[in-house]
Amino acid sequence: MIVVRSVKELQDILKTETSVGLVPTMGNLHVGHLALMAEAKRHCKLLVASIFVNRLQFGPNEDFDTYPRTLEEDCAKLKEQGVVDIVFAPSEAEMYPQKQTYRIKPDSSMADILEGFYRPGFFEGVCTVVGKLFSIVRPNVAVFGKKDYQQLQIIRSMVRQFAMPIEIIGLELQRDLQSGLAFSSRNRYLSTKELKKASELYQTIQVVKKALEAGNVNVDEIEKRACSLLTQQGWQTDYVSVVRQVDLLAPTESDLINKEPLVVLAAAKIGTTRLIDNCEVF
Ligand code: PAF
Repeated sequence: MIVVRSVKELQDILKTETSVGLVPTMGNLHVGHLALMAEAKRHCKLLVASIFVNRLQFGPNEDFDTYPRTLEEDCAKLKEQGVVDIVFAPSEAEMYPQKQTYRIKPDSSMADILEGFYRPGFFEGVCTVVGKLFSIVRPNVAVFGKKDYQQLQIIRSMVRQFAMPIEIIGLELQRDLQSGLAFSSRNRYLSTKELKKASELYQTIQVVKKALEAGNVNVDEIEKRACSLLTQQGWQTDYVSVVRQVDLLAPTESDLINKEPLVVLAAAKIGTTRLIDNCEVF
């Protein structure tokens, strides 16, 4: 495994490669990331993992400055896992040598709702950096986690609309087997008490899933009940929302009756830590 810092050096190495996979990350890697690497390697000969904390996707009051930068530990984990061939870890000056004034602005119907409502500009920052990484690496395949479901679907839609010749693979959430808690870099902020409560988010999503599977078509009521369940348990809930998988729009009655693919997405704060989770239905 080699670590490459420059765009030119990376492109020189990749020039003759015909089966390249990419897993974009912001580092601070955990088992969820390692699962993405393992999945990606099943679909390519040469695997690039990028590690870049992307300023463009952080809001003014978010944690860009304090976001953990752990390149050495990350590389040690990847080396031990043994599936990544190249770690692409550009500096900010390498990635954005001029102010990045050209941006990829995703469709607002997908990007201004849910996470995009609470984090304005977030998905524009994500699409811009992912689009740029795609244009630097030119991968045949790229893997993203379903943990960030909205991000995955927006990237899929960007790739479709720009006819980028890249296969996008979404990998199932990695969960703690006992509690069901989804692995996330944010779990490290939870106290022992909060860690015990954290799986309530997953359990609430399961309640919503079961109601839909049982044929309940009153989505508004199901969502409201889920939110108040979380509130009663001490959470500050941003949303529990049922949307269509493909376009993240609210399901129509016919979608519900015909059991079209839906997803339950939730975001809520326990203490000061905001967690997101989701589950596909049908
Ligand atoms: O999911 C992430 O870690 C980031 O949003 C990504 C895709 C690496 C873009 O910076």
